[in-house]
Amino acid sequence: MRRHIKGNVSWVGYIDWELESFHGDDYSIYNGSSQNAYLIEEGKTVLVDTVWTPHRFEFVENLRKEIDLSRIDYVIANHGECDHSGSLTSLMAELKPGTPIYCTANAVKSIEGQYGKQGWNFQVVKTGDELDIGNGKKLIFVEMRMLHWPDSMATFMTGDNILFSNDAFGQHFAVEELFNDRADQCLLWKEAMKYFANILNPFAALCAKKIDEIKALNLPIEMIAPSHGAIWRDNPMQIVEKYAEWSKAYQENQITIAYDTMWEGTAKIAHRIAEEIAAQSPDTVVKVFNIAKSDKNEVMTEVFKSKAIAVGSPTIVNSILAGVAGWLEFAKQLKFKGKRAAAFGCYGWSGESVKVLKEKLADAGFAVVEENVRCMWTPEEADFADVPAMVEKLL
Ligand code: FEO
Repeated sequence: MRRHIKGNVSWVGYIDWELESFHGDDYSIYNGSSQNAYLIEEGKTVLVDTVWTPHRFEFVENLRKEIDLSRIDYVIANHGECDHSGSLTSLMAELKPGTPIYCTANAVKSIEGQYGKQGWNFQVVKTGDELDIGNGKKLIFVEMRMLHWPDSMATFMTGDNILFSNDAFGQHFAVEELFNDRADQCLLWKEAMKYFANILNPFAALCAKKIDEIKALNLPIEMIAPSHGAIWRDNPMQIVEKYAEWSKAYQENQITIAYDTMWEGTAKIAHRIAEEIAAQSPDTVVKVFNIAKSDKNEVMTEVFKSKAIAVGSPTIVNSILAGVAGWLEFAKQLKFKGKRAAAFGCYGWSGESVKVLKEKLADAGFAVVEENVRCMWTPEEADFADVPAMVEKLL
């Protein structure tokens, strides 16, 4: 069902309350999500993006109830990923033959790469290109390369001054109320940060440059309509300012401790480190996670907020637990900047885990402090002697 958002623009997307994960199972979802598509009815009728492949038939049928599909003049594909392009295969056959799809050159490749050469009428656009949609209004395209795919772009609609930003500024968050001022504020910002930390942070430097570029265009943005989650109608630039902050090696006064343990020895060290941080710096927020029992996307959001982390693993077969190794690989992919890190762990005989952790943390881009905590067998009070010096270097 269409939902009016501004002027002659309606939301025609899909609110996905049941979605539990995204990118396969790589991104956890606890508060639902949405795939936002938009219908513009000016002199020309324009569809901005579609919804994910499993919902494509429902999407087309819902759209048909709202509008004679043959009236759609243009389709805008801001991004080729299947959560936004996945309905094209069902939709395009219903539209007038040759209905143009406006997208970047890279989106032609990603769309054809997924759905094959369908003979669709792609119209390639680049930053600054304009499309007249009648009634004195036009669409202006802005390439958003690597935010987060090579094909990504945003579309600005003049007159109503809406930026259809696609993934940028979105959240995996089901908001039946549709708008940022109606959404649960705590969840809205939590989910916006989780999205940035887990999806956009690897491209943070590009994001910072792009925000400067968008600001330099002096577009009078009155609304930001992303492709997931709430539409920013109340002070839309607040999320742009937040992205500017997040994209510059963001950190708060927080330290996150992440570990795995076999017989609780490494867990005991983790807890002692947490107590020591609280003792040395009561203002510092401390979070402790068992990597094997915690959602990696939630933990990485806490890492994103942290100025430092401490990572622990016992030694197993001259190395570290596989779950910690996988977690560190994910941390490396996210390309965190400007964060310190320390290593700790128990061992029974050979004791290589701390050395391996330090190597992997350095490889993941963390500034690794020399101080560490290693403990043979079950930690006793004397084994915690190195904790204060290590904590001092992380604060
Ligand atoms: Fe929401 Fe990159 O797709």
